[in-house]
Amino acid sequence: MAYRAVFRCIAGCPGEHSLWTPIYRCPTCGDLLEVCHDLGALKDRSAIAWMRLFDERYKRTTWPYGSSVWGKKEWVCPDVRDEAVVSMDEGGSNLFWAERFGRDLGMQDLWVKLCGNSHTGSFKDLGMTVLVSVVRQIIQDGGNIRAVACASTGDTSASLAAYAAAGDIPAIVLLPRGKVSTAQLLQPVANGALVLALDTDFDGCMAIVQRLSQDDGIYLANSMNSLRLEGQKTVAVEIVQQLDWQIPDVVIIPGGNLGNVSALGAGFELMAELGLIDKQPQIVVAQAAAANPLYLAYTRGWEFEAVAAQPTQASAIQIGNPVSVQKAIRTLKRHHGIVEQATEAELAEASARADRTGMYNCPHTGVALAALIKLRERGLIDASSRVVVVSTASGLKFTDFKLGYHEDGLPGVTPEHANTPVELPNDYDSVRKAIDQHAGAH
Ligand SMILES: Cc1ncc(COP(=O)(O)O)c(C=O)c1O
Ligand SMILES: [Zn+2]
Repeated sequence: MAYRAVFRCIAGCPGEHSLWTPIYRCPTCGDLLEVCHDLGALKDRSAIAWMRLFDERYKRTTWPYGSSVWGKKEWVCPDVRDEAVVSMDEGGSNLFWAERFGRDLGMQDLWVKLCGNSHTGSFKDLGMTVLVSVVRQIIQDGGNIRAVACASTGDTSASLAAYAAAGDIPAIVLLPRGKVSTAQLLQPVANGALVLALDTDFDGCMAIVQRLSQDDGIYLANSMNSLRLEGQKTVAVEIVQQLDWQIPDVVIIPGGNLGNVSALGAGFELMAELGLIDKQPQIVVAQAAAANPLYLAYTRGWEFEAVAAQPTQASAIQIGNPVSVQKAIRTLKRHHGIVEQATEAELAEASARADRTGMYNCPHTGVALAALIKLRERGLIDASSRVVVVSTASGLKFTDFKLGYHEDGLPGVTPEHANTPVELPNDYDSVRKAIDQHAGAH
């Protein structure tokens, strides 16, 4: 069976556009595009047959299907030739039962999906492998692409730079100067991208990169290019697969530009369409209170207005004018959506509190965990619900946040779980005394 996917306008304008032409908005109305699959063709396999196929491929070595994104290739981008794929074994990140943290919150069935345990340390790799593979195939076929470019709050640029380098494609990244972590800045530097640090915020970088990509030959790699979302949607399939093909009750995800929540919803909807699941989970988007345009829209019956995003430790979601807001609202309406926000103190404490149960959270995951705590306290999440929190990046990329917290240096935060190293001379008795005092304090 020949599988097929095309771009269509999310507002429903007639017509379809090839995935192999650089096009990011509907030529009729200017709205965003989405990738639509030929569902009739995909229905040639039964739900059970799809599950079996995905399980057979999962984390094995047959190129490129061992990647959990490409293991679902027919649902993602069926026309990419295997030899054009640029993959570094995406997906298959751990989904673990957060037993102790769940117990602290009076929950029996809390799970954390560690998307940050990936090649460049964030979920962005799931989508970037798809976009860069398409670009490589366009170039192989003689298409005119000089470089791939993105605006970024740090993780997108890290992922784009790595995949572009692996695929031998020039990359240009636009970052808001001083607003990404040191690790995030160094990733594209190390991978040889042209790194442009601009005196603006993410929304300013986004405006410039959209203009750049009108230029022939500069291909836009932000998530408004919905090829990214096709890869990112596999996280929904992977979560269900890891739960032995059972659907969670609630999924909580931090939101900035709002591509990822749209992708998550699309993954669940495709599974339902093809009969793999028979209900949809509730989706909760968590935003930093400093950059909360979706939260405000939620409180106003989904009436959206952009805001000027204020500084937040959750720097990757410091976004005031999210490009994918309408897609996100559509997704939330279909998934009993809730939007919650977290202050700087709430996100930092939630992150630290979870760290005390063995995790090592990035601040964005802290926002999601703070939302979980607040919804639990308000009785909006039950003790017995199966809840999955999507952790979007590795805490290892956010050392300044961790250090600032434990050294009591974060604005607006009085740390309740600070823990600092005890510095001692080279002396047995001092060590003994420190241990006894610690035990006494415990
Ligand atoms: C670590 C992290 N979490 C969450 C997000 C939010 O994802 P989205 O912008 O698709 O809403 C991003 C990216 O912006 C991110 O880098
Ligand atoms: Zn349109």
